[in-house]
Amino acid sequence: MNLDWNKLGFGYMKTDYNLRVHYKNGKWGETEIHTDDFIPIHMMATCLHYGQESFEGLKAYRGKDNRIRLFRHAENARRMISSARGILLAEVPESLFVETIEKVVRMNEKYVPPYGTGASLYIRPLLIGTGPQVGVRSSDEFTFLVFVMPVGPYFKEGFKPVDMMLCRGYDRAAPLGTGHLKVGGNYAASMASVALARQKGYATAVYLDAREKKYIDECGPANFFGIKNNTYITPDSRSILPSITNKSLMDLARDMGLKVEKRPVPVEELAELEEAGACGTAAVITPIRKIVDEEMGKTYSFGDGIHPGTISARLYETLTGIQYGDLDDKFGWVTVLD
Ligand code: PLP
Ligand code: COI
Repeated sequence: MNLDWNKLGFGYMKTDYNLRVHYKNGKWGETEIHTDDFIPIHMMATCLHYGQESFEGLKAYRGKDNRIRLFRHAENARRMISSARGILLAEVPESLFVETIEKVVRMNEKYVPPYGTGASLYIRPLLIGTGPQVGVRSSDEFTFLVFVMPVGPYFKEGFKPVDMMLCRGYDRAAPLGTGHLKVGGNYAASMASVALARQKGYATAVYLDAREKKYIDECGPANFFGIKNNTYITPDSRSILPSITNKSLMDLARDMGLKVEKRPVPVEELAELEEAGACGTAAVITPIRKIVDEEMGKTYSFGDGIHPGTISARLYETLTGIQYGDLDDKFGWVTVLD
């Protein structure tokens, strides 16, 4: 493949194959191989009208040894099952999810970026309600599809500190809503506030708990973490997405001898943090330089404003080192596709 791998952003690119599995009459069918990136769909499909859909995001990495590695993809399978239960989609069995991911990556192997370019292959599994329902009720037909594309960093700065806007004018998820699920409606709910943040020059919006507006929830499409007194702190909230990256960073932090606290994080505590960051598959670790609370006239700054903090940098090096196969996979997170 002759692509300008170093210049890739986080954008769509057609690759050779996508895989589709249909659910009908109470069961999943055979996996179909497609080359077209369009899907024929009933105009009354529940995913189009009522947002009955869930997606996932994970990556494949090429190592120095040229081998391709997947990172904790069974965790994405389990999270999609949890999303399916939450909005009444048919559940994709873990084994079907895992097999489909491995197969689609192998089939598009030439799009997995070379080692050293900082790029990776983004994998997007999608589960949609396809049957027609005019009343608000679940479809009884579904499609699970998986496609891939090579990507660079989500925030164009890469591993460089960015500014974020504390969001008081909008919520992305209700206290007992669907924030903990990876479903389209949460992302629709975040678009206006993320657009506003970007218009004002911020990388994204930082959401607060919807009930009291006292605690940090998460940062656009990523979880939030802070470092203080040798402790990795990350919000505990029912309305944030349980990030697989964050879960991994908690293990790595513990392994480095840090304490780990998962608990509500009040906004004022931002003033005490030595480092702050956003984490997720797409964001990896994106260090935060400052969070601005315009309504309250407060700015919370972290670090020297130029470099990522030392603990964030160590976490980043360790996480990406495991993902690309440079470091020993001591937690058993990586699947090598041979
Ligand atoms: N939070 C939201 C809202 C997300 O969309 C994502 C991305 O999947 C994350 C957090 C990070 O989750 P993960 O680390 O599993 O990619
Ligand atoms: C990810 O981090 O994988 C995501 O899915 C974020 C996104 C919504 C682009």
